[in-house]
Amino acid sequence: MRPAPRARRSPDGGARRGRDRELEAGSRAHYEDPQYYTSTYASRIDDVAFYAGLADQVGGPVLEYGVGNGRIAMPMARGGIEVVGVDHSAPMLAHFRERLKDEPPEVRRRVRLVRGDMRRVRLRRRFPLVVCTFNTALHLYTRADVEAFLARVREHLTPRGRFVVDLSTPLVADLARDPRKPYRAPRFYHPTAQVVVKNTEHFTYDPVRQVLFVTMEFEPVGHPEQGWSMPLAHRQFFPQEWEALLHYNGFRVDRVEGDYQGGPLTPDSDVMVWHARRRA
Ligand SMILES: C[S@@+](CC[C@H](N)C(=O)[O-])C[C@H]1O[C@@H](n2cnc3c(N)ncnc32)[C@H](O)[C@@H]1O
Repeated sequence: MRPAPRARRSPDGGARRGRDRELEAGSRAHYEDPQYYTSTYASRIDDVAFYAGLADQVGGPVLEYGVGNGRIAMPMARGGIEVVGVDHSAPMLAHFRERLKDEPPEVRRRVRLVRGDMRRVRLRRRFPLVVCTFNTALHLYTRADVEAFLARVREHLTPRGRFVVDLSTPLVADLARDPRKPYRAPRFYHPTAQVVVKNTEHFTYDPVRQVLFVTMEFEPVGHPEQGWSMPLAHRQFFPQEWEALLHYNGFRVDRVEGDYQGGPLTPDSDVMVWHARRRA
């Protein structure tokens, strides 16, 4: 099976409906192929350890927005923490359910998965720890998206509950990349296509919407005609902007860190880890 159809950027780029489709595709396509997702991020382990440690410290139950196929939730559940995971991707949730089948019954019982949009899902339950992991919040493209999402977070937090979210830091050098220039990444064995593919990325930053569009192109070695591409759209939140959004949506920031080990946020940090609570 070819993992994804060749997706094209909207040619007009300006028509409103075209733009919305572009964002919709950019929030879904990257998660259509959980096997590819898993192998791509297999070496990303610092955030897994960080969230597992946080869950141990606070205790459960934990609500994870953008739970995906359980890269972070599964270790929490194995560690004895009850996790409720929300995600809008049917393939990612299906893969998580498959993975759970190999787990002991007590781990399976600790995980509840809810398919839905994080801006809308209401669980009628409160949690001492709500997390929004690995850039899931970068799929909130507009102020209305952010407001709706943060309203849901508030509803699901206990009065002294903690909200922890990690976001990539917008790095000026990254946003300034030439959209016409192909950035070559190492070739790799694609687990779904089952071939070695050349991997090229194009980056187009829209400074008005503050969205970074990444187009990943995959080309089986020796078979360029069988190539396909995958869009990803990431809203860029600058640190002061994200702090203001938290503040004006009823949160108090306890602290912001610049890595998953508790280090400070500096001009070189490529991640921001925000720790917040509901304001009284
Ligand atoms: C980068 S993945 C993170 C998955 C997992 N937490 C991890 O760390 O590997 C982002 C996840 O957010 C989900 N997502 C994006 N927009 C969403 C939305 N509006 N509502 C619910 N889930 C969303 C995607 O389907 C995807 O599984």
